[in-house]
Amino acid sequence: MYSEKVMDHFTNPRNVGEIENADGVGQVGNPKCGDIMKMYLKIENGVIKDAKFKTFGCGAAVATSSMATELVKGKTIEEALKITNKAVADALDGLPPVKMHCSNLAEEAIRAAIDDYMVKNGLKDSSDANNACGRRCDDIHHHHDEELDED
Ligand code: FES
Repeated sequence: MYSEKVMDHFTNPRNVGEIENADGVGQVGNPKCGDIMKMYLKIENGVIKDAKFKTFGCGAAVATSSMATELVKGKTIEEALKITNKAVADALDGLPPVKMHCSNLAEEAIRAAIDDYMVKNGLKDSSDANNACGRRCDDIHHHHDEELDED
């Protein structure tokens, strides 16, 4: 059911932990399944130099967080913002359809961490960030609701 890459990143996740004095920190979560992902980014001159994460969640959430941190390293913030949950899942050779929603956490955590960086550096108005956060969280809840209803 799970690809070898998913199993690999689940049993041996990359970049677990925190970055002290991170330039951007983003946390996203879902109150229904209780899964939480926190992403830390070290950013220099608009390039992501390092990424670490902590995920309190299911195996697919762990594997997608691990892959997401690998994908963002070395990318500019513009490039990182274009990483979709599908790109993360594809990089893992796919996820079972019922677990696709778990990869949303990875995409949203990247965005939240970059948002945080942009607000802290005056690249973005903090009121924008708050609005974006509200939409993000609603999106995630919505996805989960759909999945749960189908089950
Ligand atoms: Fe919620 Fe996987 S079950 S993120």
